[in-house]
Amino acid sequence: MEEPDEAVLNNAVLDLSGETAGEHATDVASPFFVSKKAAAVLKHALLDKYVVPFASKVGKWAPDGRVVYLDGYAGPGRYDDGTSGSPALILESAAAMSDFRKLDCYFIEKNRKNYQSLSALVTEAREQGLLAHALQGRAERHLDHVLEAAQGSPLFAFLDPFGLGITFEALTQKIFGSRRAGGQPTEILLNFNANAVRRIGGLLTSKKDTPGKPATLKALDDACGGDWWQQEFLDSANNSEAVDRITRGFARRVGQFVGAGAYTVEVRNRANLQVAYNMVLFTRHRDGLWLFGEAASHAQVEWRRACLPPDAADMLFSPADTFDEEEEVRRLGWIKAIRSNLENLLHKHGSFVVGDHQGEVLAGVIGEAREMHVRAAIKELYKEGKTNCTGVGDVRKLRVSRAR
Ligand SMILES: C[S@@+](CC[C@H](N)C(=O)[O-])C[C@H]1O[C@@H](n2cnc3c(N)ncnc32)[C@H](O)[C@@H]1O
Repeated sequence: MEEPDEAVLNNAVLDLSGETAGEHATDVASPFFVSKKAAAVLKHALLDKYVVPFASKVGKWAPDGRVVYLDGYAGPGRYDDGTSGSPALILESAAAMSDFRKLDCYFIEKNRKNYQSLSALVTEAREQGLLAHALQGRAERHLDHVLEAAQGSPLFAFLDPFGLGITFEALTQKIFGSRRAGGQPTEILLNFNANAVRRIGGLLTSKKDTPGKPATLKALDDACGGDWWQQEFLDSANNSEAVDRITRGFARRVGQFVGAGAYTVEVRNRANLQVAYNMVLFTRHRDGLWLFGEAASHAQVEWRRACLPPDAADMLFSPADTFDEEEEVRRLGWIKAIRSNLENLLHKHGSFVVGDHQGEVLAGVIGEAREMHVRAAIKELYKEGKTNCTGVGDVRKLRVSRAR
């Protein structure tokens, strides 16, 4: 993969965030609209749709086509109803890629019961010839061992704790620090928990004498790499602004520390609920930001579908019936927004390469729209004689120039 230039990384850190939140209702939804798993649907779809393109791409230059995957907070592997959790999903991807990539998977889980079912899943996978390891205990305890096993191979780490995960120091110095810049690619997809920010931030203004308050505040200091987040919390007008500012501040700090770009996706259980967590991808490669944007756009479709209320006997028509029409309205809106962004860029630069301006091309629709919508917008401008670019070819590499 190509090394990104500084401008793209800065742009990505500052700009590549999902739609901003607005005000959110609390989770007192009627049973019709409750879709408790929608957040997990989005999280898993992001993972599922990104790891294969990542491993396919970076594994091309890796010794023996081996790519190491670490799930530091793996859970039981599958839910009780048999639905795939992150380990089962990844093992399915590993099986699908096994002809051309060796995804060497390390799953860490602290809880004993979860570990037992995880371990059974891993045993099954090994029997099928996949490379998989289940490790019981705290992620922090197994990190050195996995990082050692990953030396010389690309590494993708998925860190998905319930609350606060590994410290800023472990993230930046241990994981990224152990991987030489310019060496094998390293990417991290991390769950930055909004509930923890709201709960712990609330202690700053609470008059209650909460036991363990200093230690709890310090835990968030450790996760964020300092106490800077406390002022951000106090300066915010409400919790939703605080979560947004602190997530962005965290992503920017990690990105600057390790020389990576960050792409943030807000995850909710329904459109009008507050953010449950942000999934943040850290990558040192421009291609990673672009491919993750594609994954995010596809994942959002699955999330919107998961948010549909279930059919009820007394309903005249099913909300699912209008889903495709609503998607079409969204599609047209995204193309219109991208067209306007492209026209602004043409006005500003006269000529530019799409992939060098990801944040500006997709401004306002980032994480929602994807490559196909950019292509459609370019084709419209071409038809109207506004650009020489036909919109045919690899979208990222297209040079869009003003028609003469
Ligand atoms: C959000 S769940 C993981 C869900 C899983 N990633 C998935 O998507 O299917 C977090 C898991 O981390 C485990 N856990 C909590 N603290 C941990 C630690 N320090 N190290 C490893 N696992 C931990 C919990 O027992 C729980 O199973």
